[in-house]
Amino acid sequence: MPRIAVIPGDGVGAEVTREAVKVLRTVDAASRLELELVEWPHGADRYLATGQTITDDEFRQLDSEYDAILLGALGDPRVPGNEHARDILLGMRFRLDLYVNFRPVRLLHPRLTPLKDKTERDVDFVIFRENTEGVYVGMGGVFKKGTPDEVAVQEDVNTRKGVERIVRAAFDYARDNGLERVTMSDKANAMEHAGGLWRRVFAEVAAEYPDIEREALYVDMLAMDLVRRPERYRVIVTGNLFGDILSDLGAQLAGGLGLSASGNIHPGRTSLFEPVHGSAPDLAGKDLANPFAAVLTSALMLRHLGFLREGERVEAAVRRAVHEGATTPDLGGTLGTASAGDAICRYLEESQQ
Ligand code: NAD
Ligand code: IPM
Ligand code: MN
Repeated sequence: MPRIAVIPGDGVGAEVTREAVKVLRTVDAASRLELELVEWPHGADRYLATGQTITDDEFRQLDSEYDAILLGALGDPRVPGNEHARDILLGMRFRLDLYVNFRPVRLLHPRLTPLKDKTERDVDFVIFRENTEGVYVGMGGVFKKGTPDEVAVQEDVNTRKGVERIVRAAFDYARDNGLERVTMSDKANAMEHAGGLWRRVFAEVAAEYPDIEREALYVDMLAMDLVRRPERYRVIVTGNLFGDILSDLGAQLAGGLGLSASGNIHPGRTSLFEPVHGSAPDLAGKDLANPFAAVLTSALMLRHLGFLREGERVEAAVRRAVHEGATTPDLGGTLGTASAGDAICRYLEESQQ
């Protein structure tokens, strides 16, 4: 009986998570997965009311008492420093050591890509974003703050072990899925220390996978080439910051953030699943948010929990909704958030009969 912590979070996070939970309950009713969904109230409202973000004990609970976490989004204009999101979201990534940020980019219908003459075959890659290091670790500080001589230092931390395990995860994925090439991306021409380590480790690990092609590309060139000829790319492995940026670029190539799912994974440990998008304050409370990114995220979670057939059925239902135009306005439809979620549940029920 898999136990899942559900953290709806802030803004549209709560709206899209409601739909993802509805879909999970529909799947559960048909397949008897006996999912136990436990809602956690963590987010901006609670932080503003109590001053609490998340405690050490709660991290321990997530680690030892749960199989997965489903998160909506964290971020609120009333918390301009974003400290609650850093504590909770980055806290889970770091403290649960969720080193693989797995972000698939898959076009579901040609009309959704802004690229000319590209089809589903052409936009179909995954990003393996390193998720526990890089500039995200928060090392550094400011000196002479608020003066004309102010200095800000933000360190980029790259460890051999950290680089090696994410590169290996990318090659394993390519091997297991019969994909021909792994592309590593860095900025070694300007950042020689970090880039040097990434390139050496990449070459060493690649040698263990002789059947898979490897290439190392500078991230500026890769950003350009993903727009020019996305069909060349199947598996991209990169650091934390470049992975963040490339995954929003990738999301838009496949129809936008409303369709983009992700998993923060440490194989064998409690892992965290969340849409790539944020709390979208511009859409919150307007019944405009697309719930499909959250729904596809729950499909990734089902797969991770070993329910491959169920994950596939949820993905097929989203594909059908996109093909039939049963979508929110960002994808050209007229449905609200809840109606789009209802359409997925209806398709799931129909496919079950
Ligand atoms: P955002 O992803 O919230 O929004 C970017 C754009 O995409 C906006 O135009 C928004 O309307 C649109 N969009 C996002 N989700 C959508 C959806 N489901 N359906 C349709 N359109 C959607 O990014 P932002 O505006 O840079 O950030 C807003 C807040 O969210 C910030 O506080 C940021 O730190 C936070 N954030 C949190 C997460 C997370 O919790 N995982 C991820 C990204 C940003
Ligand atoms: C994401 C988000 C986060 C990140 C923010 C909210 C810290 O943009 O999950 O992509 O940069 O990782
Ligand atoms: Mn991001």
